[in-house]
Amino acid sequence: MLEVVQRLVDQVEGFVPKSEKELTDFRISFLGKKGELNKLFSAFQKVPEKNKKEFGQAINKLKNSAQEKIDTYKNSFKKNSSVFEFDLSRPTSLAKLGARHPLSLVRNNIVEIFARIGFVLSDGPEVEDDWHNFSALNIPEEHPARDMQDTFFIQTNPDVLLRTHTSSVQVRYMQKNKPPIRILSPGRVYRNEAVSARSHCIFHQVEGLYINTTVSFSDLKQVLLYFAKEMFGEKTKIRLRPSYFPFTEPSAEVDVSCNICSGSGCNVCKYTGYLEILGCGMIDPNVLENCGIDSKKYSGYAFGMGIERIAMLKYGIKDLRLFYENDIRFLSQFANA
Ligand code: DAH
Repeated sequence: MLEVVQRLVDQVEGFVPKSEKELTDFRISFLGKKGELNKLFSAFQKVPEKNKKEFGQAINKLKNSAQEKIDTYKNSFKKNSSVFEFDLSRPTSLAKLGARHPLSLVRNNIVEIFARIGFVLSDGPEVEDDWHNFSALNIPEEHPARDMQDTFFIQTNPDVLLRTHTSSVQVRYMQKNKPPIRILSPGRVYRNEAVSARSHCIFHQVEGLYINTTVSFSDLKQVLLYFAKEMFGEKTKIRLRPSYFPFTEPSAEVDVSCNICSGSGCNVCKYTGYLEILGCGMIDPNVLENCGIDSKKYSGYAFGMGIERIAMLKYGIKDLRLFYENDIRFLSQFANA
């Protein structure tokens, strides 16, 4: 009797099914109602008492290895026989895509708007010298206008600093190029300011410069109106307030109608209906001369805006620090922006 069981165990262990059907037949012939195991269990009744233990163990072993065989192949069969497993056209779970940083989105948007009317990109160094950042722009040493921009100096050399604005790029460009000039200079700038919801020691600006023989203030106004409408919507209005910048004369600050309350007044625009977005003006003849451009022949305008500020207005962001914290919950909101 034990020999019969042992033969069956050998048979089970040597069994390798080639198809799911073979496996099913195997299961029925061993574990089915009329299968080998049930036959053996019936036979078990008649086994003499003294052999019962040994015989019982042998049947159990057979049962377990048959079950094990089925489990092993049942799973691997499902896998191998599944057509879908190898179907390369089958949709897969999508990898999560990252999102562009809101400051990059807004910068690209600004660049694209001005590119449409002929502005080309120009770049300059973030570590600047005093002359390009200040003196050439009509901000001489000891002039109180220097206090408008609290500067980081590189080590102890007062001539080398982190640029406080992208206006320094216009100087570099004017030195190397003859008018007509029509450039846009986006970039990072630095100021020694306490970090808060409204200011940061690192931020981004875009500078614009246009020089030609007959440039007027109304050209500037028209370009800024075009920009404001493209950026904030067709209904946007602009307002120019007289201001002071050493490198432009006359100078103005530009406000856009608040895109939250459409100019009727809300807490974002402090009930004025307008939000400040940039500084601008006609380039001071001194600046043109400093950069080797004949101020009798040429005139031009310049403007400068903060990218963070535009992004805050566009997306309704209230705290500037969010741009630098790299919090994925904040950044992922711009995935489809
Ligand atoms: N450079 C100025 C600032 O950082 C912004 C600015 C104002 C740029 C007027 C200009 C301009 O080109 O004409 O505050």
